[in-house]
Amino acid sequence: MQKIKRKSSAIIKNIKSHGEMAEQILSGDFTGVEILKEKSIQYYLFDLTKIEPDLTLPKIQNINKNYFYPKEKNKDRFNIHNRRYLGNKYKLLEFIKDILNEKCSGFKVLCDIFAGTGVVGEKFNDKNIKIISNDTLYSNYLSLKTFLGITHINFEKLKNKIGILNSLKANKNNYFSINYSNTYFTLENARKIGLIREKIEEISETNDEKCILITSLLYATDKVANTVGHYDAYRKKLDTTQPLKLLIPHISPEKNYDNEIYNEDANMLIKKIYCDVLYLDPPYNSRHYCDAYHLPENLSRWEKPDVYGKAKKMDRTFLKSDYCLQTATKAFAHLIENANCKHILVSYNNTGESKDVRSNAKIKDREIVNILKRKGKVEIFEREYKAFTTGKSESNGHTERVFYCKVTK
Ligand SMILES: C[S@@+](CC[C@H](N)C(=O)[O-])C[C@H]1O[C@@H](n2cnc3c(N)ncnc32)[C@H](O)[C@@H]1O
Repeated sequence: MQKIKRKSSAIIKNIKSHGEMAEQILSGDFTGVEILKEKSIQYYLFDLTKIEPDLTLPKIQNINKNYFYPKEKNKDRFNIHNRRYLGNKYKLLEFIKDILNEKCSGFKVLCDIFAGTGVVGEKFNDKNIKIISNDTLYSNYLSLKTFLGITHINFEKLKNKIGILNSLKANKNNYFSINYSNTYFTLENARKIGLIREKIEEISETNDEKCILITSLLYATDKVANTVGHYDAYRKKLDTTQPLKLLIPHISPEKNYDNEIYNEDANMLIKKIYCDVLYLDPPYNSRHYCDAYHLPENLSRWEKPDVYGKAKKMDRTFLKSDYCLQTATKAFAHLIENANCKHILVSYNNTGESKDVRSNAKIKDREIVNILKRKGKVEIFEREYKAFTTGKSESNGHTERVFYCKVTK
């Protein structure tokens, strides 16, 4: 506490020594930060927010609408949302679409820069709309490329190859079964996953084909994984015993011509792109996605590294995200500062203070609003999350929030 106080007063002293902009900054207007940088003061914008005056949040606008998701019919194909992924926005797509229709009509380029499964980009993917989709996990990049990036596909050839992979007989151990059998998967499924992954290297004729085949394997793997939807741990009782089956992805290549797919840090990519709508859905607590999805990542990269501990994780140091660390607010501020766009939408899940500090949000609502305000007017939309049972909607007290900023500055 003493240290923080000392640091704060040092910052204030330093700002005051820069005369005319001191008052401006201390009153909550951060336009002076640009000038501070030029004068080589080593404090970032969010060193300063700690001493800002208390600003109230914009009025929250509640959207009370029920959205329905029809059951799928085609069991031979898989869709982009047919996987389990923490924080995926599949159930929020209509809510996001309503905000976009209301606020961003006529947009032509949408960037989903923390895309995860990619369902948000896919929702708006059309011949006349360009989707920029990005994620740091290579496993996500492969499925983003498959669904949103591929422009030509020979479905007959693909069907043939998937048939070959499905009919492989796996009766020997391999890298995958040695590390992941009898825990995450049955021995039979683990051997088959490892064998199929090896065979994909052999039979793929192009990078696009390899990308689709690995994606098909990743989605099939998720269906037989003995987990609750992530790989931080496996379920004690190994009762996920159905056989592995690869399917063909449901892709519309004719919609993908203008799209761009990346596997980069969002803060680097943002400096290189323009979009009309920037949709941001960063991780919000200290649980890194590379920890929860180390296994699909390992299967995708197929570099066969050593794995450690009960959960059998590979080294993931290079995949850690700034958004899961103390640096989150700073990273978010820099991202917004560099954004070249007309509209910004941010999904951020502030679930309040939890006993488990790892679950607490890294960026405060007020910080999100203040950062966005530097670009333009901010509005907040909120929707009560409703679970549907026997046709009736029941509230569980959980709300979903989207911050919207119309960029004018
Ligand atoms: C909340 S999830 C996004 C979920 C996604 N909207 C969906 O519907 O599936 C956040 C994603 O951000 C990715 N991520 C984390 N840090 C990143 C960074 N610095 N740059 C790009 N992506 C990052 C994670 O791998 C994860 O997939």
